Amino acid sequence: MNGITPPHWHLLGAGHIGTWAAGHLLSAGHRVSVVRATDAPIVNARLIDADSGDETRLRLPVASPAALSAPLSHVVVACKTPFTETALARCLLAADATVIRLQNGVGTLDGRLPAGACLIEAVTTAAVKGQRDRHEIVADNETWMGGPAARPGWFAGLSEHWPGLQWTAHIRHRQWRKLVANAVINPLTALHDVPNGALLTETPLAEHAAALAAEADRLLARIDPTWPGDSLAGVQAIARATADNTSSMRADMARGAATEIEAINGWLLRQADTCGLALPAHAAIAEAVRRQSGRIRQR
Ligand SMILES: NC(=O)c1ccc[n+]([C@@H]2O[C@H](COP(=O)([O-])OP(=O)(O)OC[C@H]3O[C@@H](n4cnc5c(N)ncnc54)[C@H](OP(=O)(O)O)[C@@H]3O)[C@@H](O)[C@H]2O)c1
Repeated sequence: MNGITPPHWHLLGAGHIGTWAAGHLLSAGHRVSVVRATDAPIVNARLIDADSGDETRLRLPVASPAALSAPLSHVVVACKTPFTETALARCLLAADATVIRLQNGVGTLDGRLPAGACLIEAVTTAAVKGQRDRHEIVADNETWMGGPAARPGWFAGLSEHWPGLQWTAHIRHRQWRKLVANAVINPLTALHDVPNGALLTETPLAEHAAALAAEADRLLARIDPTWPGDSLAGVQAIARATADNTSSMRADMARGAATEIEAINGWLLRQADTCGLALPAHAAIAEAVRRQSGRIRQR
């Protein structure tokens, strides 16, 4: 541990990915409590490796919002993006809190953290699904953490216990790669109710995907001239590798849950507005997702 005391994390959003992260943090000797409005003092969660069937049981203490007396120093935000504000309202962050954002999309914590907070962005290619408190790890690949701050002292010890975890000083391009994949695959598969591979096999969807990727590249290159572009190839590779999978937005829409459209295509549209750039394909698809999920939720 290099003489560094592992931190005590408070987890906002003990869903699939938050519980998976908690498993890795605990195995590195970190403490994890769940901030959840419930009378239950413990979250009994199960992490199941889909390949081997191995099961790990986690007992995570619950810190109810009413019982939290001191400001939190270390927080993991892993709730679905539409609930970020609600989740943050359950606790008070220390002025110099370290916050790991483990969510898809971009910008959900902008303007929501104390000025002195240290934000660590996390981007993962892991995939975890299941039911409440039963989390099936379908893929446990690579996770990058990074941000404006220097690599924290506890990171080296954590990475010994978290397979595939790496620190990068250049997290932004990693985030944007994932953002573009999400901005293309998620709304198209949700609206057409198809698995990810349909973006490769159905010509109208493939053309729509190409238009969305090109628009995103145009914007990102405007914001950052070092953006390499060529996002379509990466999007297609992900669609190929996950051809039979249901995207999270398709799943959210099917069960009438709020989608993450505002943190994904919505973020691109807000940035485009700031740059005075039009993204007609993203504007149209974001609006279509809002309308369709609104209709499903009213049923
Ligand atoms: N699952 C994956 O494979 C995966 C992979 C990469 C990235 N992500 C990203 O990780 C984030 C979380 O995804 P997930 O799959 O873990 O979602 P999830 O299983 O649905 O969990 C989200 C958690 O958010 C909290 N939540 C739900 N409704 C809420 C509400 N109304 N108010 C406040 N909190 C609420 C709940 O936590 P409590 O029960 O503790 O309140 C819930 O367990 C998303 O941004 C997703 O895109 C997921």
